[in-house]
Amino acid sequence: MNPFYIETYGCQMNVSDSEVVARVLTDNGYLLCSQIEEANIILINTCSVRENAEKRVMNRLDHFGRVKKKNPLLKVGVLGCMATRLKEELLNHPAVDWVAGPDSYRFLPAMLGSSATAPIHVDLSLSETYEDIKPYRGPEPGITSFVTIMRGCDNMCAYCIVPYVRGRERSRDPKSIEAEVKDLVESGFKEVTLLGQNVNSYRWDPMATQPSGVSADVAKPLPQAEPATVSFADLLDRVARISPGLRIRFTTSHPKDMQDDVLHVMARHPNICKHIHLPVQSGSNNILRKMNRGYTREQYLDRINNIRTLLPQCGISTDLITGFCSETEEDHKQTLSLMKEIRFDQAFMFHYSQRPNTQAWRHYADNVPGTVKIRRLKEIIALQNKHALESNRAEIGCVHEVLVEGVSKRSAEEYFGRTDTGKVCVFPKKNSVPGEFVNVGVTSCTGATLKGEIT
Ligand code: SAH
Ligand code: SF4
Ligand code: F3S
Repeated sequence: MNPFYIETYGCQMNVSDSEVVARVLTDNGYLLCSQIEEANIILINTCSVRENAEKRVMNRLDHFGRVKKKNPLLKVGVLGCMATRLKEELLNHPAVDWVAGPDSYRFLPAMLGSSATAPIHVDLSLSETYEDIKPYRGPEPGITSFVTIMRGCDNMCAYCIVPYVRGRERSRDPKSIEAEVKDLVESGFKEVTLLGQNVNSYRWDPMATQPSGVSADVAKPLPQAEPATVSFADLLDRVARISPGLRIRFTTSHPKDMQDDVLHVMARHPNICKHIHLPVQSGSNNILRKMNRGYTREQYLDRINNIRTLLPQCGISTDLITGFCSETEEDHKQTLSLMKEIRFDQAFMFHYSQRPNTQAWRHYADNVPGTVKIRRLKEIIALQNKHALESNRAEIGCVHEVLVEGVSKRSAEEYFGRTDTGKVCVFPKKNSVPGEFVNVGVTSCTGATLKGEIT
């Protein structure tokens, strides 16, 4: 048995993909190890979204190069988004033996097993969703899990590399999603997060999947039996019905595509967590237009308004970028004012990092100086920290249902979990066990965490 180890960088999609890779290889006689030192194959699943993400991986590859000098039996494969972006170039790195892109994981056993197979496969697919592969989620059943519902992205936000490295958007058959979720419930999982770059554009068209060679006339079912397309709201509804005891989360929502139908489904099902991650990126209409985001500040505010009307307690988080091409002080002020108007519960904030071959790279100058990007980033972080602390302080005295996820990093005497609204909560164990739902009364907080007691 050939022992391998997977190191994962980037977003949840990569975490989920690493589980697919683990299944493909363990089904083909490879042994997954939990310690990197035990492996003679290291696979590194990579991210290209910002320059820093790639730098971290390149540093790791340099490190593996040094380890290889001491251990010539060690082999290294690069997976994920950098594999698509850099292709053969990666094979020039002394540490790298194989390169496999996000749609090439079925080819790994052949690639790793035989020198007759090319050491690189980075073609993107129009149809691959790995829907028949059951992700390997560890030797013991866990508590929370990701379930990928679609792959790729068709949005072409001007700054973003994802459509180039992940390919065209494609949705996975809802039946296979339901089957995977049912299986997770049966093995004891308590929460699933449905994953896609833009879950709101999930669309399953059964007619588009007629077997080839069958004439459309013959294949067409009777009118009353005609299967309808499945939207994200339909899928969410179907997944929520699988088990009332299973919590459902989803990410990422896109402001241009998120309609009220999703909010109505969320309102109907108590087991769908009341938390929406809705990246806004900027508060300035000039910048939003240049970013090709497909909505205005006013339309975004309108979405927030609908969320707050239909789901009054819903947690709202976002992503923000400072210093996109030609961003002025006035544009930046618009972002700060939007943040003040909305008061996000959480935000992931970045300074703009130009990515090769994106629309912004082709058409706009990366002309905001680095020092200005970083100063603006610091300003939005400071404002967001203030809002997060205020949002958490308002929770003191409230009771939240929390799913116990595991032992807190800070103290072995405490567990951590998340509220329905997506906030991390830490509390003394008090006879509870991981995987259990407990009611926690919030007693204090920081900007990042609620602290409480099981009531
Ligand atoms: N599909 C999701 C997330 C994509 S990547 C969405 O549409 O929101 C996650 C976040 O990284 C983005 O929301 C954006 O805020 C940030 N990001 C993407 N490209 C970036 C770049 N070139 N520079 C800085 N931040 C970037
Ligand atoms: Fe990138 Fe935009 Fe697609 Fe998100 S929606 S992955 S930001 S192109
Ligand atoms: Fe990074 Fe690829 Fe995800 S570029 S953010 S790992 S889709």
